[in-house]
Amino acid sequence: MAIKFEQVSFSYPSFDGKNFSALKNINLEISEKGEFITLIGETGSGKSTLVQHMNALIRPTTGSVTIYGIKIEKNTNKNKRIKLNPLRQKVGLVFQFPEYQLFEETVQKDIIFGPKNFGIKEEIAIERAKEIIKLVGLSEDYLSRSPFNLSGGEKKRVSIAGILAMEPDILVLDEPTSGLDPKGRDALLELFTSIHKELDKTIIVITHDMNTVYKYASRALVMYDGELVFDGVPNSLFSDKHITEWNLDLPDIIQITKQLEEKLDIKFDSKPHNVDELFNLVKGAL
Ligand SMILES: Nc1ncnc2c1ncn2[C@@H]1O[C@H](COP(=O)(O)OP(=O)(O)OP(=O)(O)O)[C@@H](O)[C@H]1O
Ligand SMILES: [Mg+2]
Repeated sequence: MAIKFEQVSFSYPSFDGKNFSALKNINLEISEKGEFITLIGETGSGKSTLVQHMNALIRPTTGSVTIYGIKIEKNTNKNKRIKLNPLRQKVGLVFQFPEYQLFEETVQKDIIFGPKNFGIKEEIAIERAKEIIKLVGLSEDYLSRSPFNLSGGEKKRVSIAGILAMEPDILVLDEPTSGLDPKGRDALLELFTSIHKELDKTIIVITHDMNTVYKYASRALVMYDGELVFDGVPNSLFSDKHITEWNLDLPDIIQITKQLEEKLDIKFDSKPHNVDELFNLVKGAL
């Protein structure tokens, strides 16, 4: 198992002494290979806090997170004896806000920063940056630009490129497609899918878009008020009676199917993933 959460709780300290409990007793296992996981839940439910535990950016208040055999607890590494760099290379985390991640003078310097830090020669890292900038949908011309003068969507792409350049085994993306246009969003999701399929890597994507969950995910995790309340396949999630309680929507195709079932006063025996599947269900039922 690549990452294992055992009874993890986390509280943010506050000045008035009333610590805020953001994660409550999380138990979770993530394997290195072959999972496409979407992490969902309403705003403030603890998603970003949870993923920052996956590469030891923050440590649990109680419980432990074991990442590639290294057990991280509250007081682990206070004296910096454990090297966390290798963990950060294995589990690449793209932040929700790209501003947290971009700090160099040029896009190229930002993208090669990680690989150089992990011992890759500069020339090789630059060649890699030229490939990766195109993978995330930007041209090579962007490499000489300042990351601070880019649009929100462009910054997002550069921050993703910087993590891809480290070739992590597990890629964790905190709302990677928010603020992107629909074409850009689909292209990035296809890129993550191909990394997942061709390189057999685990991808974890935080999203508020249920269509993305239904179309791409093999596993869905739902956070609600700091608790992990669902861990299973998207098909079961979207038939779970708690879904409205967790303040989640249904994917468009499921909403349309439900409306059709009501209008036609029938019940289909499966859930369609696209219009063609829905068409066949309707044809079969009439
Ligand atoms: N640095 C912080 N200090 C104190 N409280 C925090 C801090 N960061 C987050 N929180 C609180 O912890 C809770 C969980 O926050 P988190 O960012 O993990 O939520 P989220 O599920 O990622 O939300 P969103 O969908 O809005 O990104 C929220 O109630 C938030 O206000
Ligand atoms: Mg968040």
